[in-house]
Amino acid sequence: MLSLNYNKVLRPAWVEVDLNAVAHNVRTIKRHLGGVKLLAVVKANGYGLGAVMMAREVVANGADYLGVVMLDEAYELRRAGIAAPIVNTAAIYPDQADYVVDLDIEQMIDRYEIAAALSQAAQRANTAARVHLKVDTGMSRYGVHPSRAVQEIQRLLTLPNIRVMGLFSHFPMSDGVDKSFALLQIERMREIKRDLAAQAIVIPLWHMANSGGVLDLPSAHFDMVRVGLLNYGYWPSFDVQRPFELEPAMSVKAKIVAIRDIQRGDTVGYGRKFMAKQDERIAILPIGYADGYDRALSKIGQVLLHGKRASIIGGLCMDATFIKITDFPEAKIGDPVTLMGFDGEQNISPHDIAALIGSVSYDVIAQFGRRLPRVYMRNGAVVRIDNSLTAQIASA
Ligand SMILES: Cc1ncc(COP(=O)(O)O)c(C=O)c1O
Repeated sequence: MLSLNYNKVLRPAWVEVDLNAVAHNVRTIKRHLGGVKLLAVVKANGYGLGAVMMAREVVANGADYLGVVMLDEAYELRRAGIAAPIVNTAAIYPDQADYVVDLDIEQMIDRYEIAAALSQAAQRANTAARVHLKVDTGMSRYGVHPSRAVQEIQRLLTLPNIRVMGLFSHFPMSDGVDKSFALLQIERMREIKRDLAAQAIVIPLWHMANSGGVLDLPSAHFDMVRVGLLNYGYWPSFDVQRPFELEPAMSVKAKIVAIRDIQRGDTVGYGRKFMAKQDERIAILPIGYADGYDRALSKIGQVLLHGKRASIIGGLCMDATFIKITDFPEAKIGDPVTLMGFDGEQNISPHDIAALIGSVSYDVIAQFGRRLPRVYMRNGAVVRIDNSLTAQIASA
C-alpha cells in the first residue's frame, strides 16, 4: 500500500510562477518608493501564487513587512520559518489574543476590547503586543471613525504591554479616474496626524496606499505602503499611471488528456449546452471550476494552443474543460495548453479573463485553488513544485 513515491505525481494542470518576475517587480516598486517601507500583501495564498514562496521572494528582494488577514495565514508563514515582521490587517476575537503574541505578529486594532485582550496576553507572556490602529476613512470595513482616532490612540497608550506601531487606513478606490474621494480620505488621515502631533504623540508607521495608491497617490505613501497585486505583475486597473515595467508572474497551464471527434448533432458536457452544427474535434483539459477556473468562462473563454487561440465550448465541469480543436489537426494528447499567461506572442491576462466574467484581476488570480500544483521557475528552470495533495516536491 502506498509504496510509490507520490511526490513524483504531477497533475497535468498547474500554476506556473516566475520567481524572477516577482523579484523584478518588488525591486522596481522599492526603487519607485524611495525610502518608504513596503509591506507586501501575501494573503489568500499569496494572491494564488503561494503564500510561503511569495513571502520568501518578496522579503529577499526588499519587502520590509508581510501582510495577512487571519492568524491561520500568519501561522503558515511562521511554521515555514519566515521571521519577517507580519501585520494581520483584519479583525480577530479577544480569545485569539494569545495566538497573536505567540506568533509574534502585529495586529490591526479597531476595538478597545481587542487591545485589552492583547495587553493581558502580552503580560502573561512577559512581552509587548504590537498593534496598528485602523481608521475608517471611507471603506466602512474595519477601523474607528476618524473623529475617535485620537481618543482611541490615547486609550491604547494607557494599556500595559502594548506598543502602538502604526496607524493606517485603506482606499476603496485608488485606481479609478476620479481621485476626489481618495484625496478626501488622505485629508482625513492628515487631520489625525496634525491632532496627534499637537499632543506630541508619535506613531512610527503611517500607512494607507495599496497598489493604486502607490501609482497615483504619492501623498498617501506616508511611512509605508501595502502592496499586493503589483508585486505579482499586474496593474490594478487600466486607469492608473504606469511609471515602470511590471512582469506578470503567474501562468495557468494544462495538458490535453483526451481528444474526441464528434459529429453534427452531438452535444458536449453537462446540460448539453453545446450542440455540434458540423463534425468537430474537441480536446479535454483536466482542469475545471473546482480549481478556480471560473465556470462563467463556459462557451466564452479562450485558451492558447500552439501559440493560437482555441475556444472553450460547452459548460465547464468541476474538473474538466472542453475546447474546440477542429482547426488544430496536429494537436495531440499531452500537448500543453495555456489558460492564462503567454504562449509565444499571444497572451491571456487576468484582466482579459476578468473582463469576460465581469470581475477583477484580483479575483481571477486568487481563485486558482490549492489543488493545482504550483510550479516555481527561476532563470527558465523549475526550482520547486508545491503539490498540496501529495507533498512538497522540493528541489534546488
Ligand atoms: C488592508 C489591505 N491593504 C492592502 C491591500 C493590497 O491591495 P493591492 O493588491 O491593491 O495592492 C489589501 C488587499 O486587498 C488590503 O486588504
